[in-house]
Formats: sequence, C-alpha cells, structure tokens
Amino acid sequence: MKKYGVNELREMFLSFFEEKGCLRLNSFSLVPHNDTSLLIINSGMAPMKPWFTGQEIPPRRRVTTCQKCIRTGDLENVGKTARHGTFFEMLGNFSFGDYFKKEAIPWAWEFLTERVGLDPERLYPSVYVDDDEAYNIWLNDMHVPAERIYKFGKEDNFWEHGSGPCGPCSEIYYDRGEKYGNGPEDVMGGEGDRFMEVWNIVFSQFNNDGHGNYTDLVQKNIDTGMGLERLAVAVQDVGSIFDVDTLKSLSSQIIPAR
Ligand code: GLY
Repeated sequence: MKKYGVNELREMFLSFFEEKGCLRLNSFSLVPHNDTSLLIINSGMAPMKPWFTGQEIPPRRRVTTCQKCIRTGDLENVGKTARHGTFFEMLGNFSFGDYFKKEAIPWAWEFLTERVGLDPERLYPSVYVDDDEAYNIWLNDMHVPAERIYKFGKEDNFWEHGSGPCGPCSEIYYDRGEKYGNGPEDVMGGEGDRFMEVWNIVFSQFNNDGHGNYTDLVQKNIDTGMGLERLAVAVQDVGSIFDVDTLKSLSSQIIPAR
C-alpha cells in the first residue's frame, strides 16, 4: 500500500465523493451558529443539522466536506490513547433524503480498499444490533465473512450528540496488528489501540429533542464521519495520530528545552 500523506488522503476522499455526485463545501467554522446545544463543532454533520431535519434546503442533496472538529467528550482520552486528539479533521459525505445504506456502505468499502488500498482482511464492520439491512449488505453484497461483522448495542452503534438528527450506525475498524496492542482491551470494538475505528456511517433517521424523545425525520439521511488523522495512522503504519506526516513535520522542529 502506498503511504499517502494527510493532504493526499483529504483530497482523495473529497474528489472520490465528488465523483459520486456530492457537492464539495469548505469546512464550516468551529463556532456553532444558531445551535445552543453545542459549545464547539464536534462533527461534520453538526453545522448541517437544518439540512438533515428538512428545516432548510441544502445547496445539493449530496455534500462532502472536511470539517474542523473538537470533540469535547473525547478530551479525557487525549494523550492516553493513540487515536484521540483535541483538534482533528473529519471527512464526511452526506445525503439529505437521497442515497442511503445500499450506496453508502459500498462506497466506504470501495474508497478504503480500492482507492486507498487498505487490506480488506484487516477491516471489520460493525452494525447496530437490530439493523439486519446493514448487516446483510456487508455479508451478501460486500462479501465480508460473518465472523468479521460485529453487532453492537446503542452505546457503540447509535450515533447522537445532544439534541438533533441521530440514528443507528455502521462503523469500520482497522486491525493495526498485534504490535500496536495485545492486551485484553485489544479486541474488536474494545478500548485498546489495535482495532481502530476509522469510518462511521450514520443512518440518520430520527430527531432527538435533547430529552431522549425520538421522532422520525421527514427524510432518511446519511451522515458519515471519517477521521482523517486516523486513516493516515493506518495508511502510514505509525504509532499514533501525533506521528502522521503533517504533525511529525511540526513536532520534529520543536527543539527540547534544556
Ligand atoms: N457524525 C458521525 C461521526 O461523527 O462519527
């Protein structure tokens, strides 16, 4: 596999989804607008909530972005794991009542295996425990063996952050190999750094009012979150997100204080 740089991977993702009909938009600001449920933008979908709910009309029903993010809920993990950062870039493709599971899953697989060249045998999808439709797409259309498809509950495979659009999700983990972890936590879906989630496809079909009351959205949407730095960790086979080419070129210039 070619060891693509962060800047190459960002461009590869955005142009791949342009080929699939998505409109490329710039990152939105890190400061939310008209959203009192968030202090800082935490995901690609957050600035687009009105397009998911149908309150506003998007410029196109298929969009792709690379969004600047800070995920306050993950800050406790920064410095403890190889895969959490304060600031990160999240690549996304989004469907507002347009394409759904049958397109989003094969496109994720095509990008990771054919464009980037990750070994398909190191990729492990997970689905929400009740989501037979997504499970069957992985099994029958993508031909991933049943023993590599995991079913997880709400804690792992239902995406929501406060109020707003949410839904069951299907994630793709990459097995970095034993050299990056061989403890009891280094199992598929575990807290260790060996199996690293790189891609999350949310089947965004509910609205959470912020008090745990769910209603159906007017349309079924796709909300994808793909951590750019995490993908670079897998592709470059480096120890952590702080070792990818862009961050390394900065940190290598810092002269230790005497
Ligand atoms: N919105 C999906 C994610 O950030 O993983």
